Amino acid sequence: MKSNIILIGFMGVGKGSLARAIVKETGMFAIDTDDLIESLENRKIKNIFAEDGEGYFRNLEQKSANWLSENVDNTIISVGGGFYKVDNLKNIGKIVYLHSSFEAILDKIVNATNAKKKLKKRPLFKTPKQAKELYDSRIDLYKSVADKTIIVENKSTEQILKEVLKFIE
Ligand code: S3P
Repeated sequence: MKSNIILIGFMGVGKGSLARAIVKETGMFAIDTDDLIESLENRKIKNIFAEDGEGYFRNLEQKSANWLSENVDNTIISVGGGFYKVDNLKNIGKIVYLHSSFEAILDKIVNATNAKKKLKKRPLFKTPKQAKELYDSRIDLYKSVADKTIIVENKSTEQILKEVLKFIE
């Protein structure tokens, strides 16, 4: 088993922010799979979706998963909301699922100072209705692949950090 920690969960739940907080606290390296894919393709996720479609993007997620499982160790890996579907997730590391209600996610995204940007970069978050359907279809699956579920709603980053560090150490 690899010693990576994979942060999974729905769009906007705070995977990237938590990864940055873990880095700050532990000095571990972190990788984000959306960033990895954007640098591999030299274009933004929203353009990959628009130009080549979701299936193409999912193949890139699988390609990234294969690379991570063979080459990366002792790293915090934050992933896109649909990455949990790759067929070798468990070979990459320990899976931490960040859980929040859809309402709290929506509230966070819509009320963010950069809400427009947050929505624009997420092609699967076009409308709250579409996003809620996706959330409902995934929620049980996130829980079922996770080694650890952390409820992040109404908690400070410090509190979430404490819980994740307890699990890591
Ligand atoms: C997706 C989530 C996005 C990104 C892509 C697809 C999804 O990442 O990978 O737009 O299927 O939920 P975030 O979860 O970081 O927003």
